[in-house]
Amino acid sequence: MLKIVVCVSGGGTNLQAIMDAIDNGKITDTQILAVISNNAGAGALKRAQSRGIYNFCMSPKSYPDREAFNQAFTDKMTELAPDIVVLAGFLVKIPPQMVRAFNNRIVNIHPSLIPSFCGVGYYGLKVHEKALERGVKVTGATVHFVNDGMDEGPIIAQRSVMIEENDTPESLQRRVMEQAEWILLPQAIDDIANGRLEIRDGRVYRR
Ligand code: GRF
Repeated sequence: MLKIVVCVSGGGTNLQAIMDAIDNGKITDTQILAVISNNAGAGALKRAQSRGIYNFCMSPKSYPDREAFNQAFTDKMTELAPDIVVLAGFLVKIPPQMVRAFNNRIVNIHPSLIPSFCGVGYYGLKVHEKALERGVKVTGATVHFVNDGMDEGPIIAQRSVMIEENDTPESLQRRVMEQAEWILLPQAIDDIANGRLEIRDGRVYRR
């Protein structure tokens, strides 16, 4: 049984996709130990609550400085001891000590085809605004393992989404979630739960 902790900041539609996939058997052999949000008002916490999943808020704002938060967050994760940590729209930078403690065991979803439109400052609607500004014809989403860089770890899977002529950042964000994120993230978790992924020389291979 793969034990996971899901970290969230917002509405939690990716969390919902994971919970639904566990319920309908698209993800097998997996259990959500806890959902952690950095934002007490996140809709994602309510979604976890309604399924009876242990959930709580842990925000950098409640600590004297970032290092204190980093250590407390890492300690909490170590205590929960999941097999993997899933970042489902989590807007806090993962502490370096946690990246080390969970080497290649933290999975993130990013709403573009990495290495386009990623890195510092590329989150939320900004990603889609930049894609439209640049006039790309195809965008998408990427699931990847987290390393010390920003959106730089080994890529697990990607899925493309076509840009439409009258797209707005909002319409594009919605389509990228529907056509890519909600499919990719559950698939990646199922692949990990069933031992289908292998990392060699910094690259992920699917068996
Ligand atoms: C998604 O677009 C995700 O790619 C990004 O943040 C958004 C989270 O949405 N990192 P939700 O909270 O899962 O609904």
